[in-house]
Amino acid sequence: MNTALKYFSLILLTLAMSPALAGDIEKGKKKAELCIGCHGENGISVSPIIPNLAAQKEGYLVSALREFKSGTRKNGMMSPIAATMSGDDINDIAAYFSSLK
Ligand code: HEC
Repeated sequence: MNTALKYFSLILLTLAMSPALAGDIEKGKKKAELCIGCHGENGISVSPIIPNLAAQKEGYLVSALREFKSGTRKNGMMSPIAATMSGDDINDIAAYFSSLK
């Protein structure tokens, strides 16, 4: 195998091993403006019946939002919101809230 090919396979391998979750925290922060009325500016919720999102695991946030979107999980407040979110929105917002302390 020549050197260039070796490096190329190394890069491919690195890409393949990097986490599948690739949300953009900065974009997520903008998109999360929709959410702070309930989940709070810092991801700490404003009410006892609304969960905190700050520091929650990114993968959990992604799957919870996908479940609301698909209808597997239902909630009068969250389902209509998740329905309007794209896959990218979900990844970005999940990355943002999980980055909060
Ligand atoms: C009108 C208030 C309201 C708004 C706005 C809102 N949420 Fe929620 N959210 C809730 C409530 C209430 C729950 C709890 C639902 C349940 O019990 O299943 C919840 C649950 C969640 C959960 C699941 C948390 C867990 O621990 O299981 C996630 C994730 C979430 N919201 C994300 C978002 C995101 C992202 C946005 C903005 C795009 C948003 N929410 C906007 C009220 C809201």
